[in-house]
Amino acid sequence: MSVLYNKNVLLGVTGGIAAYKISFLTRLLIRQGAHVKVIMTPQAKAFVAPLTLSTLSKHPVHSTFTDDEDNWINHVNIAKWADLFIIAPLTATTLSKLSYGQSDNLLIATYLSCSCPVMTAPAMDLDMYQHPTTRENLDKLKRHGVHIIPSETGELASGLEGEGRMAEPETILKHAEDRFEQTHILKGHKVLITAGPTYEPIDPVRYIGNHSSGKMGYALADIALQLGALVTLISGPTHLELHHNNLDRINVRTADEMNQQALEHFEESDICIAAAAVADFQPTEFSSKKIKKKDDQMGIQLKPTPDILYNLGKIKKEQLLVGFALETNDGIKNARSKLKKKNLDAIILNSLADSGAGFGHDTNKISIIDKTNETHFPLKKKKEVANDIFEHLIDKYELA
Ligand code: C5P
Repeated sequence: MSVLYNKNVLLGVTGGIAAYKISFLTRLLIRQGAHVKVIMTPQAKAFVAPLTLSTLSKHPVHSTFTDDEDNWINHVNIAKWADLFIIAPLTATTLSKLSYGQSDNLLIATYLSCSCPVMTAPAMDLDMYQHPTTRENLDKLKRHGVHIIPSETGELASGLEGEGRMAEPETILKHAEDRFEQTHILKGHKVLITAGPTYEPIDPVRYIGNHSSGKMGYALADIALQLGALVTLISGPTHLELHHNNLDRINVRTADEMNQQALEHFEESDICIAAAAVADFQPTEFSSKKIKKKDDQMGIQLKPTPDILYNLGKIKKEQLLVGFALETNDGIKNARSKLKKKNLDAIILNSLADSGAGFGHDTNKISIIDKTNETHFPLKKKKEVANDIFEHLIDKYELA
């Protein structure tokens, strides 16, 4: 599967003759499974019809700050949508505006709002491309982190021969693939993640459960997929969605089911993160009929659920095994004792005492604890926390 699968690629087209080739680039990207949106400078519309590009990309093409009904085209949202911004062809005018931040059109404003990687394919005539001003502006863009796809040599629109032709769409595609390939640090790794709560049935209508949303486990699965891993996600009941060709999602309800699936998939995995909030108890007996209400007190006999992580720790060979510890007091001490008892390589401590951390929130505040070190992180969005966890594991255990 292509590294571009499911990636959001924004194409910025400027007013040069090579603009017509962007229709081919759009098709190539879509064929690799990327989602493509196109923005243009007003001048680019003279070289390729917006209708061509909106039809191919299946998204409206914008070139101005407002549409025909005077609605604002939100360049910030367009920029945030993109995983990669490719500006091609890049004319001398847009190059100069980009290097000075002269935000007088939608494309430049979007560029300035972008936090994703940006690459550009210059296209100019022979002497324009060699001009010291052009060279200086290209150097400035490079210093700002923009990846320059070198122009090619050949016949130019003026009839002159030399360097300045926009790189062919296939070459631009290759640069885009290489960019994502670099981030596929976990390619070839198999990651097993448990997520969400478990429900332990009392009778056909009632269960023992907890408030886990599954967000942390799903964020971990999402980041592992972005890093190129094959992911098995064993998920308790949750409304969360995650789709990817490299994802095998196994839905379970009870701790017993989660335990069975985790044991089955553990051997083939090389990284396992247990983020599930497994119910600690299950009724000793399941009543096949709905239990009748009583006026007096009543009790349910409980027994412990299997400790899945402990079971995995017992059969661990080469796998990297990571658990979570949700604590209210003596966090570090308790986390360290779980690290040892469950034979883990690392444990991620999150404290219910920290506001914004733990169950149901979109944020979390963690410390990663292993046999020798403690690393503390500030309160962050769960996606960023998941990123920190994988960055830490990749660095520490040299997984790349
Ligand atoms: O012992 P405690 O429940 O605090 O341990 C938390 C860690 O153990 C979490 O990583 C959780 O996913 C895992 N766990 C488990 N099976 C259980 C209980 C907890 O895998 N029955």
